[in-house]
Amino acid sequence: MFFKILAVLSLLPVFAYAQETNFVYNGFRSANLSLDGIAAVTSNGLLKLTNFTKQQKGHAFHPDPVQFKNSPNGSVYSFSTVFVFAIQPPQYATLSGHGIVFVIVPQRGLPGSLANQYLGMFNATNNGNSTNHVFGVELDPIQNPEFKDINDNHVGIDLNGLTSAYSTQAGYYADGGEFKNLTLSSGKEMQVWVDYDGTVKRINVTLAPINVQKPQIPLFSLRQDLSSIINQSMYVGFSSSTGLFLASHYVLGWSFRVNGEAQALALSQLPKLPRIGKKETPKVLTIGLPLMVLFIVSMLILSVVYVIRRKRRFAEVLEEWERDYGPHRFKFKELYIATKGFREQELLGTGGFGRVYRGILPTSKIEIAVKRVSHESRQGMREFIAEIVSIGRLRHRNIVSLLGYCRRKGELLLVYDYMPNGSLDKYLHNQPKVTLNWRQRFRVIKGVASGLLYLHEGWEQVVIHRDIKASNILLDAELNGRLGDFGLARLYDHGTDPQTTHVVGTLGYLAPEHTRTGKATRNTDVYAFGAFLLEVACGRRPIELRDPEDVILVDWVFSCWDRGAILEARDPRLGAEFVEEEMELVLKLGLICSHSDPLMRPSMRQLLQYLEGDLPMPDLLSMSLSSGGLMFSHREGFDHLAMSYPSSMSKAFTDLSSVAESHLSGGR
Ligand SMILES: *[C@@H]1O[C@H](CO)[C@@H](O)[C@H](O)[C@H]1NC(C)=O
Ligand SMILES: *[C@@H]1O[C@H](CO)[C@@H](O)[C@H](O)[C@H]1NC(C)=O
Ligand SMILES: *[C@@H]1O[C@H](CO)[C@@H](O)[C@H](O)[C@H]1NC(C)=O
Ligand SMILES: *[C@@H]1O[C@H](CO)[C@@H](O)[C@H](O)[C@H]1NC(C)=O
Ligand SMILES: *[C@@H]1O[C@H](CO)[C@@H](O)[C@H](O)[C@H]1NC(C)=O
Ligand SMILES: *[C@@H]1O[C@H](CO)[C@@H](O)[C@H](O)[C@H]1NC(C)=O
Ligand SMILES: *[C@@H]1O[C@H](CO)[C@@H](O)[C@H](O)[C@H]1NC(C)=O
Ligand SMILES: *[C@@H]1O[C@H](CO)[C@@H](O)[C@H](O)[C@H]1NC(C)=O
Repeated sequence: MFFKILAVLSLLPVFAYAQETNFVYNGFRSANLSLDGIAAVTSNGLLKLTNFTKQQKGHAFHPDPVQFKNSPNGSVYSFSTVFVFAIQPPQYATLSGHGIVFVIVPQRGLPGSLANQYLGMFNATNNGNSTNHVFGVELDPIQNPEFKDINDNHVGIDLNGLTSAYSTQAGYYADGGEFKNLTLSSGKEMQVWVDYDGTVKRINVTLAPINVQKPQIPLFSLRQDLSSIINQSMYVGFSSSTGLFLASHYVLGWSFRVNGEAQALALSQLPKLPRIGKKETPKVLTIGLPLMVLFIVSMLILSVVYVIRRKRRFAEVLEEWERDYGPHRFKFKELYIATKGFREQELLGTGGFGRVYRGILPTSKIEIAVKRVSHESRQGMREFIAEIVSIGRLRHRNIVSLLGYCRRKGELLLVYDYMPNGSLDKYLHNQPKVTLNWRQRFRVIKGVASGLLYLHEGWEQVVIHRDIKASNILLDAELNGRLGDFGLARLYDHGTDPQTTHVVGTLGYLAPEHTRTGKATRNTDVYAFGAFLLEVACGRRPIELRDPEDVILVDWVFSCWDRGAILEARDPRLGAEFVEEEMELVLKLGLICSHSDPLMRPSMRQLLQYLEGDLPMPDLLSMSLSSGGLMFSHREGFDHLAMSYPSSMSKAFTDLSSVAESHLSGGR
C-alpha cells in the first residue's frame, strides 16, 4: 500500500513534464512531421522545405500543438530551440531564393499565406495585423525594401508581420568577441539557437557554422514580451518559399523544449546534404579533372613515343641464320652506350666504307672501335656475315681482331679491337708531324707481311684482304703494324650484276688483272702489298695527282732503279737514318710485286723470307721488268676502269681519283 503511493508520487512530475513539449530530431527519417506545400523529407532524412520550383511555399510542423502558457491570459513560458539549416542556391546563381523562418503559429499550414517575399507566412491583407499571432525568426538572404529589410543577408525577429521588429547582419561572435560574417545562402550547414527567457522577457538568437560551438555572445538579444503574440496552444515549425529566384531550403536536425534548454543536436548523426556537385566541385571537376586527364593522356602519349623511339633507336635486324653467330653478335644498344650515342667526339675517322667510332663496352670496359658501314642490299649478306664471323676467329698479332658485328636496317656495324695509335698513313703523309723512323717502318712492313701470310696460308681458309694500303694498317700501342678491314671490299662485290661488277679497292693498289677480271686473288693482294712497300719506303702515295705532272710512284722508283740510283727514291725525311740494305730490299720487292704478270710476283711466304733475310734477293734484271711493262700495267688498269664506267674517260679518272683520295685519307 505504502509502496503504491510512493510510486504514484514519483510518477507525478513525469506527467507534469509530459505537458511541456521536448523533442529532438537528429534527421527526420522517422519523424512524423506535418508537411504541406512542396516540403518533403528525403530518403536520407533531410527536411527539404523547397526544391527548385518557382513561387512555391513549403511548411513543416511538429504534429502536436505546444502549450506555451498555463492560461489564455498568462505569460509565455521560457522556450528554447536549436536547428541546423542550409540554403543551397542553384548552380552559378548570383541571387538566391527567399529565406527560411522558424515559426510559432496558431494554425498548421498558415492558410491564405503566399510564397515569394511573404515567405509562406502572410498575405498582403493580413501582414502586420496583430490578430495573426505569429512569431518568426527569419534567415533572409534577400533584401526586400517593402518590408524595410536592412540587407540581403540578415537575421530578424518577425512579430505578426514581415517588417522585422529587429534584424541584423548574419554572423557570429567568435570566442575572442570578434564578429565574423556568415553567408546564409552559401549552401553550408549552420546552426541556430533561439532562446526565450519567459521571466525577463528576452529573446536571444545565436548563429554559428556547424563546426563551431555555440558562441558565448548571441548574435543579438532582444527584450520583448511575447505574451500578446503567442497564444496558449501553438504549433512550431518552419516556413519557406521560392520566388523567381530558386533555392533549396533544408533543415537537417531540430530540437525544441519548453521550460528548459533544448537538447543539443548529435551533429555526427545528421543526414548529409546532397552534393552541390555544381558549385563546390566545379573548380576541381571542370578545370582540374580535364587538366588531369590531359596531363595523364599526354604523359601516356609521351611515354609511348619514348618507348617507340627507344625501340626504333635500338632496332636491329636479326635473322634466323644468325643465331649460330650468337657470341659474335653485339646488341646495338650496347654499342650505342659504348660510343656515347655515336657522338662526334668519339669519331676516329671517316673511311671509304663508313665512319669509325671509339667506344668502351659497358660491361667489360674493353676499348673498341666500331665501324658503321651503310649497306642497303641484303643479298650476299649471309655469306658476308659468315665470312666476317669466321674471320672473327682469326687471331694473329698483326691482325686487328674483329670482335663481332651488329646489323640494323641498311647498316652493318663491325666491332674491332681499339688501336690507340691509329692508322699508318697519318705517320707517312701528315708532314711535318711525327714520322716513323726506318727501324719502326721496317718492323711494320715485316709485321704486315706476316699478317698477310697468315691470311693467305696460315689458316684453314684462304682469306683475301682486297684492300691493303697504309690507311688500312693500324698501329697498336707498341707501334706494331696490324691489318684491318680485310674482306670488307668483298661486301661491295656481292649482289651486283656480274657484268657490271665494279672493282672495289683503292686506285694505285689495284693489280691490272684485278681491274680486268674483277677477281681478287692472293696475287692481287701481293700487288697491293708492293704498292704499300713503296709507299712506306718513299713516304709518297702510289699515285700523286698534282700539277704540273702526276707522279706514278712505281714508275718513278723504276726510273731511279733504271738509273742505278734506287736509294734516291727513299723518303727524304728519313735523312741518313736508315739501313741501306733494308731500304734497297724493300724498294726492289716493291717493284717485283708490281709486276704486271701475276705469276711473276712472289708469294707472301717468299716475301717474308726475303724480308727476314732467309732468302737472297732475286735479280731484278732476270725478271723481265721493264719500264714499259710497268707503264703498261698501270695504263691498262686505268683504261679498263674507265671503260667499266659509262662516262667519259677523264670524268671516270677524276671520279676514281676522288675515291682514291678518300680511301687514302680515311682512317680505317
Ligand atoms: C518539388 O516538389 C514537388 C512536391 O514534392 C514535386 O511535385 C516537384 O516535382 C518537385 N520539383 C522539383 C524540381 O524537384
Ligand atoms: C502523425 O501525427 C498525426 C497528427 O498528430 C497522427 O494523426 C498520426 O497518427 C501520426 N502518425 C504516426 C505514425 O505517429
Ligand atoms: C483576459 O483578458 C481579457 C482582456 O484582456 C479579459 O477580458 C478577461 O477577463 C481575462 N481573462 C482572465 C481569465 O483573466
Ligand atoms: C489572407 O489570409 C487570411 C488568413 O490568414 C485569409 O482569411 C484571407 O482571405 C487572406 N487574404 C487573401 C487576399 O488571400
Ligand atoms: C486585422 O484583421 C481583422 C480580421 O482578420 C480585421 O477585422 C481588421 O480590420 C484587421 N486590421 C487591420 C489594421 O488591417
Ligand atoms: C560583414 O558584411 C557587412 C555587409 O556585407 C560588411 O559591411 C562588413 O564589413 C563585413 N564584416 C566583416 C568582418 O567581414
Ligand atoms: C541572452 O544573452 C544574454 C547576454 O547577451 C545573457 O546574459 C542571457 O543569459 C541570455 N539568455 C538566454 C535565455 O540565453
Ligand atoms: C489568441 O488569443 C486571443 C486572446 O488571448 C484570442 O482572442 C484569439 O482569438 C486567439 N487567436 C487564435 C488564432 O487562437
